[in-house]
Amino acid sequence: MTAEPPSRAAPQRFFIVVGTSALASGAFSIDDIPSTGGRIDVLLRCVRAALLCSHGVRRDAAIVLVLCGGSSAPRTLRIDGLTAKFLRPDERSLGALVKKALSAPRRDSDEVRPGVFVRDGGLDVALAWIGDVTLYALEEGAPDVREAAMVGGPRAFVLGDHRGFDEATKALLASRGARSVGLGPVSVHAEDAITIVSNELDRRGPTALSDERA
Ligand SMILES: C[S@@+](CC[C@H](N)C(=O)[O-])C[C@H]1O[C@@H](n2cnc3c(N)ncnc32)[C@H](O)[C@@H]1O
Repeated sequence: MTAEPPSRAAPQRFFIVVGTSALASGAFSIDDIPSTGGRIDVLLRCVRAALLCSHGVRRDAAIVLVLCGGSSAPRTLRIDGLTAKFLRPDERSLGALVKKALSAPRRDSDEVRPGVFVRDGGLDVALAWIGDVTLYALEEGAPDVREAAMVGGPRAFVLGDHRGFDEATKALLASRGARSVGLGPVSVHAEDAITIVSNELDRRGPTALSDERA
């Protein structure tokens, strides 16, 4: 179960969201995602923010959801903008995609649908999976991302869910040398934090967008 995603164009920006209670199985109802999915709705909105913009898919971006809720936890789900198909912006469609991916039978490959991958394990697995990147932890009160000198090459930004980071997550990120960055004085929703970071990166360099309508 360790086949790597295609490396022909590795993502340049990763967003990793730690879902403290988000269900690690597909046993949630599409008709009531928040209460049956352990607030996996928070993470679904992060998928939209990370991978979709108006009329396009961010081909150079990937999102990694660390799912820590339920008896199957922890599991990690990754979606690559380059190869994922049929990404829609609404929560219900993204919920259906994630539900199917988490319910897919185990095969030789981690790729359960085009561009969608599932592995057992939590944040440590997610960090190993994305390889050699510059790691940033999004934390309220940290030095402003606008002032941060960002080195080139692939970058990963780690975010908390509605509860923020627990102590174990903070310790793991610190042990991996994550640089803490903040987004200004207001605590925003995780998906909004992703939009702010995406905008900051867009302003600093070329962005790979598809012309596909989302
Ligand atoms: C809704 S917030 C979490 C709020 C939670 N009560 C806490 O104490 O962290 C979700 C995530 O978005 C990111 N975030 C939100 N506002 C931020 C800010 N102003 N600066 C940096 N990161 C922020 C953080 O990663 C946070 O864990």
